[in-house]
Parts: sequence; C-alpha cells; structure tokens
Amino acid sequence: MSEEMAHETAVGIHDLSFATTEFVLPHTVLAAHNGTDPAKYHHGIGQRSMSVPAADEDIVTMAAAAAAPVVRRHGTDGIRTVVLATESSIDQAKSAGVYVHSLLGLGSATRVVELKQACYAATAGLQFALGLVRSDPAQRVLVIASDVSKYELDSPGEATQGAAAVAMLIAADPALLTIEEPSGLFTADVMDFWRPNYREAALVDGQESIGAYLLAVQGSWKDYTEQGGRDLDEFAAFCYHQPFTKMAYKAHRQLLNYCGHGVDEDRVTRDLGLTTAYNNVIGNSYTASVYLALAALLDQADDLGGRPVGFLSYGSGSVAEFFAGTVVPGYRDHLRTAAHRAAVDRRTPVDHARYRALHQYSFPADGGDHITPAETTGPFRLAALRGHKRIYETS
Ligand code: HMG
Repeated sequence: MSEEMAHETAVGIHDLSFATTEFVLPHTVLAAHNGTDPAKYHHGIGQRSMSVPAADEDIVTMAAAAAAPVVRRHGTDGIRTVVLATESSIDQAKSAGVYVHSLLGLGSATRVVELKQACYAATAGLQFALGLVRSDPAQRVLVIASDVSKYELDSPGEATQGAAAVAMLIAADPALLTIEEPSGLFTADVMDFWRPNYREAALVDGQESIGAYLLAVQGSWKDYTEQGGRDLDEFAAFCYHQPFTKMAYKAHRQLLNYCGHGVDEDRVTRDLGLTTAYNNVIGNSYTASVYLALAALLDQADDLGGRPVGFLSYGSGSVAEFFAGTVVPGYRDHLRTAAHRAAVDRRTPVDHARYRALHQYSFPADGGDHITPAETTGPFRLAALRGHKRIYETS
C-alpha cells in the first residue's frame, strides 16, 4: 500500500477487554472502620467500592487476563508490537509486557515495551500504536494498561485505590472506534503525585493534584482547538481519566466554563453519566481508568454509531492529552459487555482486616524461595518468587 493510501486508512480500537481483581472492598466497610460518613465516599468522591488484588495477582496477571480474550478472538497474526503501560511496575529493567507476551503465547517476532507517565502512559501507547498501524495497516498492536493504585493506609487517598487492566487491539478498519487527529497536548512539571522507587505507595498532595488536573484539562483543550479539533458541542460523550468518578464531573464543568458554556448540570450528566459505571466500583486503575470509562460508555449507551466521543487522558506530574474518536457503526456486535459485568461481579468482598493484610502483604526481598498463597480464581497467577525471579502460571 502506498504511503498516501496508508494515511487514508481508518485506524483505531478494534477490540477492548478488561479484567480486574479477585477481591473487592465496599466503601461502606472502609467508612465503618474510619468513622467516615459513607455519603462522603458515595456522593462526595463518587466511589462505591475498590478492587483489591489477591496475594497472587499483580499487573501482569491482570494484563494477561484482559488480553487473553482479545487474542482468543483475533489470533496472534499481525501482532508485532505489545505496549504495556503502567505506573505500578514490578521491575526496573524488564518490561511487564514480556511476561504477558509469554503467558499469551505470542510469537518471538514481536517488539515489547513498557511505558510510564503516571496515569497517562496508555494514551502514549495508543498514539504509538496508531502511528505503526498507519504506516503499515497489516499490523495490529496490543496496547495494555494495567495498574494497582496503592496509597498509605488511613490516608485521604486510601478511598481512591483500585486495580484493573484494559487490553486494546489497535488496527486498521477498527470495529469499535476510529481515533482521529489532532490531539491537544499539555505538560507541566508539578509535584502533585509521585512514587519514588523505594516506595510501594504513592505520595500525593490531594488538593494540588485536583488543581493540576483541572489546569491540564484547560491546557490540552486549548491546544486541541488550536490544532483544528472539533467543537465541544459535536461530542456525544466525554471519557475522562477518573481517579474518582467525581473528578470527571469537576473536569467537565471546568471545560464547559473555559469554553464559555456555563454549567448546565443536565448537560454534564448527559455528557458523562454513562462513563463512570466501572470506575465507580473498581476505583482508580491509573493508566486503565480512561479506557474503563470508554468500556462503560460503549457497554451501556444506546447506539452511538457514527458519533464522536472526546477523551481526556491525564497523568500526574503532569501530562495530558485531549483527543477524539468516532464510534464505528455496528460496534455493538463486538462488545464484551457480559464478560465485563462478570469481571466486576465475580469479585469476592473482603472485610477490613483481610483488606489491610493484603495491603501490607509484600514478598521478602531476600532472593529466597517464596511460594505465593493460592488465592485468585483468575486465569493467571503469580505462583512464586525464586531467586528474585517472578514465576507466573496459567491456572
Ligand atoms: P479528602 O480530604 O478525603 O476529601 O480528599 P474532601 O474533604 O476533599 O472531600 C471530598 C469531597 O467529598 C468534597 O466534595 C466534600 O465536600 C465531599 P467537593 O468539594 O470536592 O465537591 N464530602 C461529602 N459529600 C457528601 N456527604 C458527606 C461529605 N463529606 C465530604 N458527608 C481527595 C479527597 C480526592 C483529595 C483524596 O481522596 C486524595 O488525595 N486522593 C488521591 C489523589 C487524587 O485522586 N487526585 C485526583 C487528581 S490527580 C489524578 O487524577 C492523577 C492520579 O490518578 C495519579 C496518576 O496520574 O498517576 C491520582
């Protein structure tokens, strides 16, 4: 195919599948433990429960569980690149994607890489994938976002924890969503949220992080319009990064104000209402969050075929991107709504003591032989740590 023809090919998200954890902590349990009014969680931040990984689950097992149905449906042909985006990395050198590549049985003629920029990195992965497919439409790229969000126990951030992985197959003539150019970009060096290498839990200045997010919404939208993007009124819905679902509402009100629209709450609900259903019960899944918003929208909306959707991907520190996609007519035949609902519903609730024990669980760092408790009923598990090596197995 000539370069010109390649540029005309529609590229975007051909398939999307997500996975989350074995356990779930309802916010009523957290509220009862710390004496908080549950309404603060349910209405104040818009969260009802958070996914909690079992001792034998991590970003690799979730990523493989999310991607396995995609590979089952489409096969491995044409997948020459796997991009795994995460900020809860398990190794400073080896990409978590290489473990996932192995668990999925992908061919050796594959490039695999891990990307990091807080919650934003999956969108960078998506853009890299679009570029690869535009230059060679026969290729397909597996982009996986997988994260475990962990804050200190008894800190304000604790109620916004969560965990999930989203796998997306990026291809020409996609079945779900065509991604468009341009993108609006924004970067600012802020210390709103970060996690030094020696810490398991993130450090955060909550109010500053909200302010930094809102500034990034404005900045990326400004660039989007300067690059010739769509008018705000054209969008059927908006998928925001949702560290807690009320953040999407704050962000959208900011955008409407910035665009001089005033804030009509019915419009805000119309624009966002269907995007929060999974994040509301899963919690912050960092890189996966904005794509869980897309999954919730597609799984619940009346036919969106032909309608544009806006995306605001934000990662603390901070980087943001506003971009648009158009839903492909007939997309509903390709959704995984039942499997997504099952992934949420299959989780087993834990009590507060069990949640705390899981939060505090970590492998000894002595290089010895450590078998992991067998807890997950998911398709992949972290079986052991041996000589500092993580041993995964298929259940
Ligand atoms: P907090 O101090 O626990 O809560 O921190 P608060 O006092 O700010 O209250 C939260 C909301 O609940 C407020 O509403 C209260 O009014 C309301 P708002 O004024 O914001 O509209 N409220 C109630 N509502 C109903 N009934 C009640 C009640 N009581 C209070 N009884 C905070 C909240 C989000 C700051 C904290 O959870 C935190 O630090 N979270 C982590 C940081 C975070 O999520 N930041 C979001 C932006 S940064 C981002 O998105 C990036 C990130 O995902 C990381 C990455 O990029 O990698 C975090």
